[in-house]
Amino acid sequence: MWITVAFICVALLALVLKYVFTSPGLNPFEVDSRQPLKPMVLNRKEKNKVLKQGFLASRVPEDLDAIVVGSGIGGLALAALLAKVGKKVLVLEQHDRAGGCCHTFTEQGFEFDVGIHYIGEMQSHKPYRCILDQITEGQLQWEPLENPFDHVVMGPPENRRCYPIYSGRTRFPEELKKCFPGEEKAIDQYMRLVKTTARSVWHMVLLKIFPAPLAKLLVYSGLLKSLSPFYKMAPHSLTEIASELTENKDLRAVFSYCFGTYGNMPKDSSFSMHSLLVNHYLNGAWYPKGGASEIAYHIIPVIEKAGGAVLVRAPVNRILFNDSKEACGVSVMKNQEEIHIRAPMVISNAGIFNTYQKLLPKELQATPAIQTQLSMMKHGDGGLSIFVGLNGTKEELGLKANNYWIFRENNLDELVENYAKAGREEASRKLPILFVASPSAKDPTWEERSPGKSTLSLVSFASYKWFEEWKDDKVTNRASEYKELKEAFIESALEVVLDVFPKVTRDKIEYIDAGTPITNTHYIAAPKGEIYGADHGLERFRPELGAILRPQTPLKNLYLTGQDVFVCGFAGALTGALTCASTILKRNLHLDAVALAKRTNYVDPKLKKE
Ligand SMILES: Cc1cc2nc3c(=O)[nH]c(=O)nc-3n(C[C@H](O)[C@H](O)[C@H](O)COP(=O)(O)OP(=O)(O)OC[C@H]3O[C@@H](n4cnc5c(N)ncnc54)[C@H](O)[C@@H]3O)c2cc1C
Ligand SMILES: *[C@@H]1O[C@H](CO)[C@@H](O)[C@H](O)[C@H]1NC(C)=O
Ligand SMILES: *[C@@H]1O[C@H](CO)[C@@H](O)[C@H](O)[C@H]1NC(C)=O
Repeated sequence: MWITVAFICVALLALVLKYVFTSPGLNPFEVDSRQPLKPMVLNRKEKNKVLKQGFLASRVPEDLDAIVVGSGIGGLALAALLAKVGKKVLVLEQHDRAGGCCHTFTEQGFEFDVGIHYIGEMQSHKPYRCILDQITEGQLQWEPLENPFDHVVMGPPENRRCYPIYSGRTRFPEELKKCFPGEEKAIDQYMRLVKTTARSVWHMVLLKIFPAPLAKLLVYSGLLKSLSPFYKMAPHSLTEIASELTENKDLRAVFSYCFGTYGNMPKDSSFSMHSLLVNHYLNGAWYPKGGASEIAYHIIPVIEKAGGAVLVRAPVNRILFNDSKEACGVSVMKNQEEIHIRAPMVISNAGIFNTYQKLLPKELQATPAIQTQLSMMKHGDGGLSIFVGLNGTKEELGLKANNYWIFRENNLDELVENYAKAGREEASRKLPILFVASPSAKDPTWEERSPGKSTLSLVSFASYKWFEEWKDDKVTNRASEYKELKEAFIESALEVVLDVFPKVTRDKIEYIDAGTPITNTHYIAAPKGEIYGADHGLERFRPELGAILRPQTPLKNLYLTGQDVFVCGFAGALTGALTCASTILKRNLHLDAVALAKRTNYVDPKLKKE
């Protein structure tokens, strides 16, 4: 039996190597295209000239090579990768500015990010950093958070426990051991499991870029499950693993605390997904210098250089197909009129539900292959974001370049489950989890941009159905009941913040408002107010789904990019883009990025000092 297995493995390996090394396509990572650092542009009006180019038929370039629907990192990165091999790409965004979850907005003089608090793996020799440097010509800079970068806080005010989370492959477990004497073995085992599982995440990438029959063979022969630590651990929940490792409830919660970065309670989290996140931050966390808007601001010129464009206020209302059912363009809704734009290829960054359920003609939506994918996916949980503008510097307010994950107690599953089941009024009084960070404290340019001020960003989850009844109200003028419900959530979150951050007081608050799931629907087109797109529960990591949910959709010339095609998070959506570009350009760009990162292997002078 083992001889047969070995034979199949060798045959597969030969196929794989053939696929990997005979890359006919063009390589966007052929040359290092970083330019010397230009002076930063802090002026918002200047930046908006790039970020807010409104859609006009006259601004659509001729002879397009591709159209991308949505300008999140998944859409922009993909467009830039194609632009780097000379393709003319048009990116269309429904909101009034580019960036998706990376966009920022300003209220009463305070600039707020939407979906970027911290990103891992930005050391200068890492592939992710290399990819970002290449698609921004080296103009996007990353600022490290302090160490500890996260703080896990648990329990009621009278019995609050705080566990600092340090980065560093050895420091992370060492510091945990200081907090949990006697648990050394559990901590070491946890680390081993996390590392081996996360290290084989590229198996998920391969499933998506291999020819479909090969991917299916790997899945249905059982080879993948027996050979891949990632897929071996995928059906095991975080709760299951954490409870096997230790009896200590606080430690179990600390092992699980970052479930908030993908949104499923520990008993519905795949240990594989969790490992990705723990591993992602193991060598530290970074924030984009100048705030999240810098990301789109520096990618757009690369798209434009090849003749492409990024246009906003351009809601795509359907994808166009020709008689042979091949995608051949999109329709944009402008002043109740449809404007048709043609291109030989359409790539959607709008998420799987928007793409399949809103943008396809009914008869194509009914395609069995599409229905199968839809039946295996669920909408993810809704997000709740609270934005606070404060009078005072970070020193005055005691804010640092770090994050707090605050839990009511250590029974995370129960907390989340009860919250989701509760009625909305009751829920608003007992947030199970609250993420608190100060974006302004993370950004060294902040003081120059907004002297004497600070911001806080609070994030939690909320059910779409609590807010659904107001979804059709005008976004700037919703019913007073809606505002009252928001107030209730704000008030409970604020109580926690005022308690955990004693220097932040009510009189310092100049601005406070909340974004609910229906706010997400409006600004980032999340159909059910999802914070991280499609659900990341155990089902998402079934290898069967991994193999069919791929950049190439069942419809010719229509592709998917972004978080739904891989996993959520900035890096997850970026991997989605890289995987999609690999499919389109017919070469493994993951290897190309690694090769360039190795070749340049430059060292950031700031990192060298450490
Ligand atoms: C509150 C919050 C905090 C987060 N914090 C972090 C963090 O600290 N670190 C991290 O790594 N990740 C974080 N994330 C997750 C991360 O931001 C996302 O996973 C990632 O940016 C998603 O990128 P994307 O390109 O797939 O999708 P998106 O950024 O959602 O982009 C999709 C775009 O498509 C547009 N669109 C949809 N339909 C249409 C249409 N019909 N026509 C035109 N345009 C359309 C949308 O408007 C949107 O701009 C956070 C997310 C949120 C919401
Ligand atoms: C449909 O579009 C594709 C790609 O542009 C093209 O190759 C094909 O010939 C078209 N089919 C018809 C019937 O127009
Ligand atoms: C901010 O605080 C300072 C004192 O620290 C005060 O003089 C100023 O009026 C405050 N500004 C606002 C807008 O509240």
